[in-house]
This record gives sequence, C-alpha cells and structure tokens, in this order.
Amino acid sequence: MNLEHQLLPGRALPPRAAPSSPFATFSRRFRTLRNTLEVLGPVTTARALLAELLLPTYEDHSFDRRFGTETSAMLSVIESELPARYRDDAAGYWPAVENVVHHILRRLPVHYQDYVFVDAGCGKGRAMLTASMYPFARIAGVELSPLTAETARRNVAIFRERAASLQRCADIDVICQDILDYDIPDANVVVFLYNPFQGLLFQSFMQRLHEASQRTPHREMLVVYHNPWSGDEWLRKTPYFSKIYEHRMIAHRLSWNVWTPVRG
Ligand SMILES: C[S@@+](CC[C@H](N)C(=O)[O-])C[C@H]1O[C@@H](n2cnc3c(N)ncnc32)[C@H](O)[C@@H]1O
Repeated sequence: MNLEHQLLPGRALPPRAAPSSPFATFSRRFRTLRNTLEVLGPVTTARALLAELLLPTYEDHSFDRRFGTETSAMLSVIESELPARYRDDAAGYWPAVENVVHHILRRLPVHYQDYVFVDAGCGKGRAMLTASMYPFARIAGVELSPLTAETARRNVAIFRERAASLQRCADIDVICQDILDYDIPDANVVVFLYNPFQGLLFQSFMQRLHEASQRTPHREMLVVYHNPWSGDEWLRKTPYFSKIYEHRMIAHRLSWNVWTPVRG
C-alpha cells in the first residue's frame, strides 16, 4: 500500500501494539528522531517536537476517564465494517479532542436553543456528547457503522447517567444510516464534520446540504468543518458555499472553519 494513502489524515490508524520494554521504546523514539532530522532538518524537527509535546493527542483518554464512556479507541474503515464502496472516501473512527470542540461551540454565532446539532459521522459520540453540554434544541448523530453506532448509543446512556448535571440538551438521537440517506432536519442546523469523509462522498453530502438550504430558505445552516482536509479545496472552489470563519491551528487536525450555503 502506498505510504501517503496510509497516512492520509482523517483515516484511523491501526490500534497500537501492546507497550514494549523501556529500552525498545527508547530506541524506537531515537530512530524516529533520527529519521525526522534526516528528512526535515533540525529547525522543523524542533518545531514538530514542540507541537507534539504541547498539543493533546488522539490517545487522550480524559473524556472517558471522567464520564466512564468508551470514545477513545480508534477503528479503521475495515474494523468499522463500512461498505466496500466507501473504502476510499470514508474515514474510520477517531475522536475529536474535547477541548477543541468546546472552543468551536463557544465561538459559533448562534443561540444554541434555536439550532439542531447534527454530527455527520458521529462515531462513538464524543463530539455529540460535548455538544450536549450546550442547550441545543436537539442533537442528532448519524453514523454508518452499526458497530460504532451501537457504542455511541451506549455512551449516550452512560453520559446521561453520569453527567446529568452537565448536560443541557438530553434530546440525543443516534441514527445508524448512510449520511447520503439522512433527511436534513427542516430547522436551523449546525452540521459538524470532523473530517468524516472526502472525495465524492463529501461533495455529494455538501450538495445535499445546499439543496436542503435552497428548499427551506427561512432556516440558517452552519457547517463546521473540523480537521478540514481535501474537502476544503472543493469548498473554496464551489459557488455553493461561502466561508464565514477560519481558525487555523499549528496542527492541521485541530484546525476548523465554518461555511454557510450561498442562497441561489
Ligand atoms: C473521524 S470520525 C468522527 C467522530 C466524531 N464526529 C467525533 O468528532 O468524535 C468519522 C466517522 O464518520 C463515519 N462515516 C464515514 N462515512 C460515513 C457515511 N457515509 N455516513 C455516516 N457516517 C460515516 C465513520 O464510520 C466514522 O465513525
């Protein structure tokens, strides 16, 4: 398999192997550092190291430790049992970083209670549960993988039990469905995309969003594109959406921007 393909952001990496001995860990890290120095040189390597040290990682288990949920373990497209036709365009499961989701939600120019929050590709539900700490009218998570959707439902129940005092929207629905078959609610919506798919799948979904917004021009629609990967280029070229906000971070996977459909 081509390396670039394997490392494409938005795809889940295989789960980590069991921890090895301290010496093996040290020599692996040393090799990684030497390789990086060879490729990037000392200045860029130092910057990359600093970023890794300072930024939260995907193995951040603090959300699950606090709430007793299971949102941390990543799943590849194969492990998620996604249909073969989507193997190229769909991402596997990896969770958003809770703090970044809070940061995004606090900056949205909306009255939460007037909006439905739709997590397109909700995975095990971490972003959706974070959104439930805000008084949205309701929350819908759409997930293609039955396995992952089942875990999301369990997490919603656990969170409701353990974090009732934090929850400001308890109307949460996990819908196990292909996002292309999902009927976008006829209401004001915040659509949250944590790089769940790319290519034609991404474009088809965005076109459906645009059509929905044209059918019901009275409603507002904001699309949060977090970890904006290949879809970003398409969005910049398309006449269907305009960017209203951009928040670039030192690591691309933590960046996000907000789009709104252009009315015809
Ligand atoms: C990167 S995870 C996002 C997890 C979650 N939104 C969060 O922020 O914690 C992407 C998810 O999108 C799901 N997905 C991919 N293609 C999909 C599709 N066509 N319809 C619905 N879900 C899809 C994957 O199964 C995966 O769980």
